[in-house]
Amino acid sequence: MPEPIEVDVARRGADSIDREVFGTRAGFILAAVGSAVGLGNMWRFPYVASEGGGAAFVVLYIGLTLVIGIPIMLAEFAAGRRGRLSPIGAIRKVGGSKWLPMGFMYVLSGILILSYYSVIAGWTIRYAIEAMLSGFPADPVAHFDAISTGLPAIVYHLAFMAATIGIVMVGVEKGIEKASMVLMPALFFILLGLACWAATLDGASEGYAFYLRPSMDELLDLDVFSNAAGQAFFSLSLGMGAMLTFASYLSKHENLAREATIISFADFGVAFIAGLVVFPVIAALGLQDQVGESAMGALFISLPGAFEAMGTAGRVVGILFFLALMVGAITSAISLLEVVVSSMIDEFKLARKTAAIIAGSVITVIGIFPATNLDILGVMDAVAGEFFLVLGALGIAILVGWVMENPAEELLDGASPAFSKAVPVVLFFLRWVVPAILLLVVWNKAGGALAAIQALGGGS
Ligand code: PHE
Repeated sequence: MPEPIEVDVARRGADSIDREVFGTRAGFILAAVGSAVGLGNMWRFPYVASEGGGAAFVVLYIGLTLVIGIPIMLAEFAAGRRGRLSPIGAIRKVGGSKWLPMGFMYVLSGILILSYYSVIAGWTIRYAIEAMLSGFPADPVAHFDAISTGLPAIVYHLAFMAATIGIVMVGVEKGIEKASMVLMPALFFILLGLACWAATLDGASEGYAFYLRPSMDELLDLDVFSNAAGQAFFSLSLGMGAMLTFASYLSKHENLAREATIISFADFGVAFIAGLVVFPVIAALGLQDQVGESAMGALFISLPGAFEAMGTAGRVVGILFFLALMVGAITSAISLLEVVVSSMIDEFKLARKTAAIIAGSVITVIGIFPATNLDILGVMDAVAGEFFLVLGALGIAILVGWVMENPAEELLDGASPAFSKAVPVVLFFLRWVVPAILLLVVWNKAGGALAAIQALGGGS
């Protein structure tokens, strides 16, 4: 039985007195895991890993999740629970008006990331439906070219946004919490089944070797390091206020460290298992070159090809895979939209339904651009999905580590005795270790974002 969460109305700000809350602790965790687990784990993780580093990337990714990811998640939880408002309001409350630009950047990140995320999610819906109706395409490269941009992409993007807006309109408890409770466990079991199946393929061991055996040179490569950091934030939904927003619906009795640990491990677990599905399949079918050529479409080209080659069983497995991906995508999209919608509710005192429709429509229109051109999608991912997130993570570390009044008190509320002792360590990390590492990554990713923008300008 999920434990009910007590609502501590007296400690909430007067302007957020009618704020909704999660009905249960499990509801909060599943919603946060739902936000974390998504296309980032299954589409982005394998492609970024295969772009450089392979196993070295995976090792760095695990290390960075522990050293930076968990402290940043705790920082977002602390700021969100203290502020009891959506990102803009919470950041203003915790840091004062000078920090407002960061709040706006968070909302902008939510808008931009969701606009292209929805396009990729749209591909997923299309593959799931097509697989059910007619099977997987015989020529996956040509098929991906045909459906990934233009009208077909726009139509599915619209469908995905409509579903996301619908759930966010209904609200935290009835929409977000209920949807995650059913969808997240389903996704996990589907993936686990797929990983077992992938292990039986001829040639799977080559895939495992690429995935799991690191080379020393690559471990020391700054690009691989920055990619791993960027991917960790994207995958954990950090650096744009999603976790902060969820924490604003939490009570003071919640053990923040325990929740952050559960969420991070669940997210890593799913990404890791997704790798155990994708890499053996790629190796078994000799698809390495195709994946290398179209990083963006890697998953959508390699896996359908594999499923098609495997006859009926492949079709069943493939349908399950794309359904799981769809589930992951929608629960993440909900949290992206929630950052924008909750900010509009808090700042402009709009009704939830009105805010969801306005924000959702704006995002839907912006999404038409990445839906017409994959290069635009790539630039948006480099700017909002990487640079903004690492910058936003650096910002929240400094805000909570240096500016927020008594952050230890917030972290200690509801903490277990063991974690209470670790709070000074977390704060030390937030003040010194995380900013030092992130400055390097922000620098590297700023270069990446600029290069992507220039390449787009030069290419068109
Ligand atoms: N973490 C989500 C995923 O892996 C994407 C996301 C990023 C969601 C940032 C919210 C905020 O798919």
